[in-house]
Amino acid sequence: MKKALLLLGCVILLFSSCQKAKKQTPLMTYIEEPHSFAKPNEAVITHLDLDIKVDFDTEIISGTASYLINNNDASEIILDSKFLEIEKVQADGTDTNFKLGAFDSQLGNPLKIAIKPETKRITVFYKTTDKTEALQWLKPQQTADKAQPFLFTQGQAILTRTWIPIQDSPQIRVTYNAKVAVPAQLMAVMSAENPKTKTADGVYNFKMTQPISPYLIAIAVGDIAYKPISNRTGVYAEKSMLDKAHFEFSDMENMVASAEKLYGKYAWEQFDVIVLPPSFPFGGMENPRLTFATPTVIAGDKSLTSLIAHELAHSWSGNLVTNATWDDFWLNEGFTVYFEMRIMEALYGKDRANMLARIGRQDLEEELEGLKDSPNDTKLKLDLNGRNPDDGMNSIAYDKGYLFLRTLEETVGREKFDVFLKNYFESHAFSTTNTEKFIKYLNENLLEKNGITFNTEEWIYQPGIPENQAIIVSDKFEQVESIVQDFVKTNNIDQEKTNNWTPQEWVHFVRNFPEDMNTEQMQLLDNTFNLTNSNNSYIAMVWYEQAINHDYHGNNVDEKIETFLTEVGRRWYVSTIYKAFKRNNKTDDALVIYKKARNNYHSVTVNTIDAMLGFVSE
Ligand code: BES
Ligand code: ZN
Repeated sequence: MKKALLLLGCVILLFSSCQKAKKQTPLMTYIEEPHSFAKPNEAVITHLDLDIKVDFDTEIISGTASYLINNNDASEIILDSKFLEIEKVQADGTDTNFKLGAFDSQLGNPLKIAIKPETKRITVFYKTTDKTEALQWLKPQQTADKAQPFLFTQGQAILTRTWIPIQDSPQIRVTYNAKVAVPAQLMAVMSAENPKTKTADGVYNFKMTQPISPYLIAIAVGDIAYKPISNRTGVYAEKSMLDKAHFEFSDMENMVASAEKLYGKYAWEQFDVIVLPPSFPFGGMENPRLTFATPTVIAGDKSLTSLIAHELAHSWSGNLVTNATWDDFWLNEGFTVYFEMRIMEALYGKDRANMLARIGRQDLEEELEGLKDSPNDTKLKLDLNGRNPDDGMNSIAYDKGYLFLRTLEETVGREKFDVFLKNYFESHAFSTTNTEKFIKYLNENLLEKNGITFNTEEWIYQPGIPENQAIIVSDKFEQVESIVQDFVKTNNIDQEKTNNWTPQEWVHFVRNFPEDMNTEQMQLLDNTFNLTNSNNSYIAMVWYEQAINHDYHGNNVDEKIETFLTEVGRRWYVSTIYKAFKRNNKTDDALVIYKKARNNYHSVTVNTIDAMLGFVSE
């Protein structure tokens, strides 16, 4: 009898703990968002096993994407896919029904896969196509060494679905393993634990054990090598770039250490940078463990490395604490710019940080001017429903986001603000957050606690810049401005004063020419300072913009502009120059160059410039 009772007790205990176990693993709640077809509240992916072959002859990636899933009793799981050829799908190893829903030009197709309540794993057999937008396949001619082809991906914002069928929302997080086969003379690297040398057979195995959002899954394949900077930082680049990159980024370990001192431990173990060919459409992309970077950042004097500080800062704001939807993009970029400035200040001092902040302040003014007919796009919280997120993701998120956080810092004091930020990152690590949750967290943990009132809602939900904005002052730049003014009056510059200028001072100088500066003055400056031939990509870019604005054609600057636009695909640079052509009614000149250059650009740059110049391909 005793035994029977004991047994019954055990059974009851077992049953109730089973029930508990079932209740304890509810799916997290995902919010509705307009840029993914997935219904993660019904069934969600948790881990990816990728097994692919990268074929440079056909320019196709093919293989399988296999997922562990959490199923909330759903009879289907929906993935995002765009321009992929789906061959078959399996659920727990047996073929299952699947269907591609209607095509949307921004979002692609929902891939609907039949599953059972007990399905644990789904496997998609697929191929990319020649429309695949994330990938750029480069001919040897388009690389630094000019001997081998190159491939890289760009996932943000919604392009990962064009090379992997996936639930492509930043709210989703997956760990992943990947087996990648590439031509034996090339090396593959991913946003994961990476090889440091080539394998004999061109097969590489990757592991990303921390959960990341799909837009951060990335791969690059090329004839590259690795050179360490410290035991957790280093650079990948083609041979002819490796030493230059290693020198340029030699402060990387110090950057990581400074960042950790500010806002807590670096969570991703390794921080490497790969220098890509010049068509890479961004300055940098914060792929976890391996930032992707443009070669235009290699100036020879470490002057443009704030870009590395920026991508590193994303290891906290963006990769660790991720925007839940692209409407909350400012949570990624605004915090990252703020953090970037703090790293730069800690490493190189206030003068340098203030110059960078002033440049951003001028960028913001120009962006506001450009958006004066679409004030909604000047809000921090965006409404990108029905739009390609890429179109609404302008520099407002960066520069207004920064100004908001800097104003907040100056209001509450740096000490309290730093404690707040550190706790914010720690308490939200490996999760997503949106604007509304952030405001609540800010109120509870910083403002109410310290009895501070702040116009947070105005900053976030209203267009333009609130009255209480922090005023950013740079003494260095004020001196530069007075030199511009003197020059315009006297046609003379005391070169003693410019001898020690940093590239930032040159950029500020060039950007602040008055509109009525004449061609002779442009010529005089060019002859004195050789601006047309500047080796610093940033100075060159702003000088070209001014050459177009001021109708200056001396020293073969037109040829230089054309070469720059054909070789470089960094969207911010090329769009600044094309915009200058357009603003000055020289769109025809721009189109002549663009028709030659377009083939060299990645799809995100092509999309932006097509729209800007009204280009329709035949
Ligand atoms: N995450 C962005 C790049 C991005 C933004 C890609 C939106 C796709 C959609 C990256 O961190 C970035 O901001 N890059 C900047 C550099 C920077 C120093 C401001 C860039 O590419 O210019
Ligand atoms: Zn960024």
